[in-house]
Amino acid sequence: MYKEIDLDRIDTTGLPPENDPERQYFFLAKCREQVHGLEQKRGRKLRACVVNMGCQMNARDSEKLAGILEAIGYELTEDEASDFLIFNTCTVRDNANQKVYGRLGEANGYKRRNPGMMIALCGCMMQEEAVIQRLRKSYSFVDLIFGTHNLYKFAELLYAAYEADGMIIDIWKDTDKIVEDLPVQRKYPFKSGVNIMFGCNNFCSYCIVPYVRGRERSRRPEDILKEIRNLVADGVVEVMLLGQNVNSYGRNLDEPITFARLLQEVEKIEGLLRIRFMTSHPKDLSEELIEVMKRSSKICRHLHLPLQSGSTRILEQMNRRYTREQYEELALRIRREIPDIAITTDIIVGFPGETPEDLEETMDVVRRVKFDNAFTFIYSKRTGTPAAAMENQVPPEQVRQGFDRLLRLVQETARDQVSKHQGSVMSALMEEVNGNDPKLITGRLSNNTIVHVPGDASMIGKILPVSLDECHGFYYMGHIAE
Ligand code: SAH
Ligand code: SF4
Ligand code: F3S
Repeated sequence: MYKEIDLDRIDTTGLPPENDPERQYFFLAKCREQVHGLEQKRGRKLRACVVNMGCQMNARDSEKLAGILEAIGYELTEDEASDFLIFNTCTVRDNANQKVYGRLGEANGYKRRNPGMMIALCGCMMQEEAVIQRLRKSYSFVDLIFGTHNLYKFAELLYAAYEADGMIIDIWKDTDKIVEDLPVQRKYPFKSGVNIMFGCNNFCSYCIVPYVRGRERSRRPEDILKEIRNLVADGVVEVMLLGQNVNSYGRNLDEPITFARLLQEVEKIEGLLRIRFMTSHPKDLSEELIEVMKRSSKICRHLHLPLQSGSTRILEQMNRRYTREQYEELALRIRREIPDIAITTDIIVGFPGETPEDLEETMDVVRRVKFDNAFTFIYSKRTGTPAAAMENQVPPEQVRQGFDRLLRLVQETARDQVSKHQGSVMSALMEEVNGNDPKLITGRLSNNTIVHVPGDASMIGKILPVSLDECHGFYYMGHIAE
């Protein structure tokens, strides 16, 4: 386990070890010497800032980056005008992508004022060749660029960047390697994401993730369980198991195991109180999983089940491999079997060839399934995906109108669903001081609904009974029930 590694005892004078993670421990020690030298030169501690721009998986990766930066001696800060700034990027939609260039421009301003500053980029967007070309050409002030497959090598790459003059770029096309036991700095002491698999094999026709995250690879169950036990020993009460399609977990292992079986093993871990997971592809959601969820006292009453579209014709074009009827049947069965569950979803509006009738079908599914929350996205054309080459792209005005109609409906159904619990008392994990009002603490119910209650920071990390007084759409105002 990384915690038992003493960087001071690593001999940094010789050659680096061949194997990971030992090789990375060697570079951690080397980087620490560098940071120490810089501290002495500048007469102060160095500060590093990790900016996460993507999904939960990226957020977890950012915690790994932060863990390494902290291990080598940086103080972590949220101030981008720091000594080391790294953007962990997302490219799932073009707007995520555009933001990066703007933020880089600002970062260059900070660097002019602090010439010793280093700027790094990593994450999904770096896996795109056109992006790298643009960065190479117009953003020469960037010191280090790497991708999603070699994040475990961050210490080694950072060391190379300290030594180099110009930009260091290291992007791999794919990998089958999973390196365990590297440092991690969690954002929350009491909850944590846990990767159970990497990559995706589904190739939904609009989606860039399989191209930038590579093929699906599952971690071994014993490694996952060991990580969770260590997290629990370190104060974690809730884990979120992460994968692009958790329902296909374990299929490619030497000793195959189902996701439902893995959940049962996780459930046995003493001291762990809540289990969440993300994301479930409807085509692979098994009867066994529903059974396990139903019987479990730790698995949260929340299922994120992306619909994408309610039109079977569009679903086929999207390569989702289920029909509208199959989705509805599945969602309604889950509601019957686990009545207190919240079902949330993702929907894309404006996929090539989508007609107002197709959208009407999507709205019908929303009315029937009554999602507790839905993330609606305007289709974004991603270069290299099959959908980008489709000719019948929908005019932006039509998309915008459809999007607005869908959003209104989704908000109505979500409000109806969420408000059902008004007046009742439910358990909430108290997560943080409310950003707008420091007298309020924000908690999360098992079904993922947010509740704000009067309180103080001493409540954070505890699961407390909360009275749900007033529903405000997606969240509640409440108070701690005695
Ligand atoms: N693996 C998850 C989703 C990962 S991406 C799953 O299959 O459910 C998160 C969401 O982004 C997707 O569910 C989809 O709704 C949305 N998305 C992905 N590609 C998109 C694109 N090209 N345009 C708009 N939304 C997209
Ligand atoms: Fe993208 Fe589909 Fe894979 Fe989800 S399952 S990451 S939407 S390709
Ligand atoms: Fe974005 Fe990569 Fe996640 S593209 S959604 S950060 S897997």
